[in-house]
Amino acid sequence: MKLSAAQAVEVLRAAGEPTRLRILALLAREELAVLELCGVLDQSQPRVSRHLKLLAEAGLVERFPDGAWVFYRLTAGGQAGELVREVLARLDANDPQLVRDAERLTAVFAERAQVASDYFARNAARWDEIRSLYVAEGDVEAAILKAAGPGPFRRLVDLGSGTGRMLTLLGPKAQVALGLDLSQQMLNIARGHVAEAGLKACELRHGDIFSTRLPDGEADLVVVHQVLHYLADPAAAVKEAARITAPGGKLLIVDFAPHKLEFLREQHQHRRLGFSDQEMRRWLAESGFAYTAVETLPPAREAGLTVKIWTAERAAARQRTAA
Ligand SMILES: C[S@@+](CC[C@H](N)C(=O)[O-])C[C@H]1O[C@@H](n2cnc3c(N)ncnc32)[C@H](O)[C@@H]1O
Repeated sequence: MKLSAAQAVEVLRAAGEPTRLRILALLAREELAVLELCGVLDQSQPRVSRHLKLLAEAGLVERFPDGAWVFYRLTAGGQAGELVREVLARLDANDPQLVRDAERLTAVFAERAQVASDYFARNAARWDEIRSLYVAEGDVEAAILKAAGPGPFRRLVDLGSGTGRMLTLLGPKAQVALGLDLSQQMLNIARGHVAEAGLKACELRHGDIFSTRLPDGEADLVVVHQVLHYLADPAAAVKEAARITAPGGKLLIVDFAPHKLEFLREQHQHRRLGFSDQEMRRWLAESGFAYTAVETLPPAREAGLTVKIWTAERAAARQRTAA
């Protein structure tokens, strides 16, 4: 339904203020936590929160709590959301203020990525131990094997491969396998594990999940295991993983259900405290997957985490019929 004139005025009034317009332009790039926005705008939390409240009341942004943090994103659909996107699309990409904001956002994330990368470098040797702290690994791995199916797979790609556990688990079902990770320390350990497991056709490469440089439809099994909750833009990583999933292929995303273990941000560099089915299904649907199966694995011990396996299957390419 179209907006009434009064509703349009309300939307434009909400957007029509310098800081709020900057916030909208930033959220058009990716979803952000209040503190991240404060860092980019160089404004206090109460001030930024007031602007966000106004934008949310006018239906321009959606708010989603994640543990003690609150994230915001532009409203997905609706007339108000479309009107704002229309306004943003008409802004000059070279506007000095917007360019500065975009640069600061990049710097904030680069700093965070550095802290996370130091964390992985420091903990690479202990990773297998850390991973098993909050989840019953045996159950999760059995469920992953089941979700992947019997194979054989032409090519397995493991994004954020860490110490290589997914490669040694699923690699035997694939003709060739590739693990991609940003951390050289993790890659070195993975090389040892893959060699120990006797996986011959398995390559480990330095690479970024946001731009893998792999061709479209590269793999018929793509795995993203316990990586998304560290990332600045998990939706973009899902999109890239989807892009390299071949027609007829599977994408397995394994991560946590929403939880409240706030210390994981401080001590283990988590950015998101889990993901909801609704959120993951939306990202996968936006990446062209019609159906996603979800497996839920409750914690085996107190204070453990619930693990989710989201399995998305890419429709097989239609066979061309002879004219
Ligand atoms: C929690 S570990 C999980 C590793 C492995 N998938 C597992 O489950 O054991 C997360 C891994 O993601 C990697 N990583 C983080 N950001 C990345 C990025 N942008 N691109 C590729 N790898 C990344 C880290 O270096 C780390 O090895």
